[in-house]
Amino acid sequence: MSVQRCFLRGLDAEVSVLGAGCWTIGGPATNRGLPIGWDHIEEEEAFAGLARARELGVSLFDTADVYGLGRSERLLGRLLRDTRRADLVLSSKVGYFAGTACHPYHPDQIRRQFATTLDNLGTDYLDLYFLHSTDFGDNDQYLAGAVEVMHDLREQGLIRAVGIRAPHTFAEQWAAGNDEHAATITRWLHLFHQIHPDVVTVRYNVLSPRYTAQETDIFTFARRHHVGVLIKQALAQGLLLRDPACPPPVFSPTDHRSRDPQFQPSALATLDRKLAALRTRFGTTPAALARIAVGYALQHAPDAAVLLGFRNADQITTTLTCLDNPLRQDEIDDITALFHHHNERLASRAVHRD
Ligand SMILES: NC(=O)c1ccc[n+]([C@@H]2O[C@H](COP(=O)([O-])OP(=O)(O)OC[C@H]3O[C@@H](n4cnc5c(N)ncnc54)[C@H](OP(=O)(O)O)[C@@H]3O)[C@@H](O)[C@H]2O)c1
Repeated sequence: MSVQRCFLRGLDAEVSVLGAGCWTIGGPATNRGLPIGWDHIEEEEAFAGLARARELGVSLFDTADVYGLGRSERLLGRLLRDTRRADLVLSSKVGYFAGTACHPYHPDQIRRQFATTLDNLGTDYLDLYFLHSTDFGDNDQYLAGAVEVMHDLREQGLIRAVGIRAPHTFAEQWAAGNDEHAATITRWLHLFHQIHPDVVTVRYNVLSPRYTAQETDIFTFARRHHVGVLIKQALAQGLLLRDPACPPPVFSPTDHRSRDPQFQPSALATLDRKLAALRTRFGTTPAALARIAVGYALQHAPDAAVLLGFRNADQITTTLTCLDNPLRQDEIDDITALFHHHNERLASRAVHRD
């Protein structure tokens, strides 16, 4: 069955409701001495995944200049050589790679990176262009210039929509507090109103906090502002599909997960305990768990598109076809009940920090 399509606000165009997240196929990368990539991946394996995504009806492909330091964009460019440009919705990002410029958001640097991105992809426009980082220098000295460049690119028709990332946990009301969490939300709202993005990316999965009826979550906030939402990490970077019988994964030093506390053995053991009931109820195959992960994300945000990371054709086939058998309401209720207690505690702790 072909992947369904949805209308993406902000871009005001149809996209496949499941998109190909192409960070993972960039492979190893470091930036400013930090791992920002994934484990090594063979070129042909990565490309086979992209080609399979296209065959299964994916039109939305998300990449960035730093994903594999251009490798991810070039792989997509290869796909584009055999695909009609108008059939694809291409998203890329700028903001982490400073090159020899003083800052990644120096206007000249943004324009240079944009030109390289178009060159890598072999296209003359992007559908979505994201300000990837929220670091606009001391006193946000590069913010106004970055916004000007993005809006200029949009006016010239070189990009169709501007995007930014949203905080991992967000309730609009938290800004009214007076602690560190309030400061994060206040800052993000400030950026949101300065940048006027058309689309935001959001980390969202079964491990995300649940918000109370009094809290405005990012999906409701985005709807109110006519902003589209792309969900990332619906699979929690592989954590939700992991077979608990397998030993903890070992990542190369260039895979950013090698430094992520969530992937340490003790955190994995804690997660396994949280997921135990879910796995008993639904099974432990990647297909069964993908159906829960992707289905859960979309039931909460049916007007969003989900970006799915993958490392080969088999992985993307499993995640793209998992909704051929959509989650029933009783299954959604079960998942919510199994996570309700845990997630409510997380949300209330976040509110408490305010
Ligand atoms: N994460 C961010 O901060 C961010 C920011 C902006 C945009 N995005 C976009 O969102 C996309 C999705 O996020 P993500 O890639 O970080 O995380 P994700 O989609 O939650 O997870 C991707 C990982 O899940 C595992 N996986 C996928 N299909 C599988 C299957 N069938 N069976 C077993 N494991 C499977 C693979 O892990 P293994 O590698 O272990 O096999 C894969 O690398 C990115 O690629 C990017 O385009 C992400």
